[in-house]
Amino acid sequence: MKTLNSTLILLALTLFISCSSKNESELDKAAQQFTLLVKDADAANKIPRTVTAEGEIHWTNPRFDWTEGFFPGSCWYLYEATNDEKWKKAAEKFQSLFEKHKYKTTNHDLGFVFNCSYGNGYRLTNNKDFKNVMTTAADFLSTRFNSNVGCIKSWDVTSGWQAERGWKFPVIIDNMMNLELLFEASKLTGNDKYKNIAIAHANTTLKNHFRDDNSSFHVIDYDPETGEVRNKHTAQGFAHTSAWARGQAWGLYGYTVCYRYTKDEKYLEQAEKIAKFITEYKGTPEDGIPYWDYNAPNIPNEPRDVSAAAITASALIELDSFSNNNYQPAIDKIMISLASDKYTAEVGENNHFILKHSVGSIPHGNEIDVPLNYADYYYLEALVRLKK
Ligand code: GLY
Repeated sequence: MKTLNSTLILLALTLFISCSSKNESELDKAAQQFTLLVKDADAANKIPRTVTAEGEIHWTNPRFDWTEGFFPGSCWYLYEATNDEKWKKAAEKFQSLFEKHKYKTTNHDLGFVFNCSYGNGYRLTNNKDFKNVMTTAADFLSTRFNSNVGCIKSWDVTSGWQAERGWKFPVIIDNMMNLELLFEASKLTGNDKYKNIAIAHANTTLKNHFRDDNSSFHVIDYDPETGEVRNKHTAQGFAHTSAWARGQAWGLYGYTVCYRYTKDEKYLEQAEKIAKFITEYKGTPEDGIPYWDYNAPNIPNEPRDVSAAAITASALIELDSFSNNNYQPAIDKIMISLASDKYTAEVGENNHFILKHSVGSIPHGNEIDVPLNYADYYYLEALVRLKK
């Protein structure tokens, strides 16, 4: 018996050591690749977002870009993983390029932008200036909350392609990702006003965004006067009734975060339901990397979306720590695939982004089968979460 126990302990220890050293080697490769990307970004004094059709780095729009927080956020994760001051310096430099965007009232993405950058920075350094940036951004994000609807408005509908859809008050499932900044702002200030908005938004979304199979619509359009649902649409998915892959990942991540801050069981249940939809979906390929839309018309001849897989993996790692369900097999499947040559670029290739094969928006003809800064961000977050 004693020999059996010792053998089991030895086996467990070997497995643990081999998993952690695998994780270390992926982080090490990511750090090598990002050393090159930071060099490119330093030279341009710009933030990398993706790669153009001509094979050049496409930089974020300096006027505002919903993805601008991810690159400095990735540097913060590398700082957390390595303790190397060069990553802290890079994160501080690149987030300072958009600090002034904390006053924006024209879209909902301040949560993505400021929580992934300044939020991680504050978590790791306790720098009071970062906290002030976060609470200012939370104040400006809160201006988009409408109490008739019980939601933050995602997009303005006065210009651009959004103006052509006939919407009055569109709320996208992605907006769940902006709530973390509000929960954090309440924690940092002791003022519940931010958290109350986040809870109202999560509850309204829970009521209207989900279908019986636990997949979600992308866009719910509300009447801003009455709060009635006007339309259930898509913007980035294949069809109004289809399940856009990244949207499912945003919902999973968003409700997991809501449970983290509130411990309200209904959010945990919702996250578990979404996880069930994603992990048990029969049409997903064996490697766990979904097509860009679960109902895309030409499967298997459709692009995969690595960003959706990376967000899902990171969310499942956190959900696994709250839930009685075991998400480890699903996490392992995705993380092993992402680390493979099929999805991770060789150091020096892929314009120095870590992951290949993501999709921005197929209906808009944008960023199809390319690297994306947010795929790298959530992959690094997942690697750091696993390391912990
Ligand atoms: N709006 C964020 C996304 O494209 O997923």
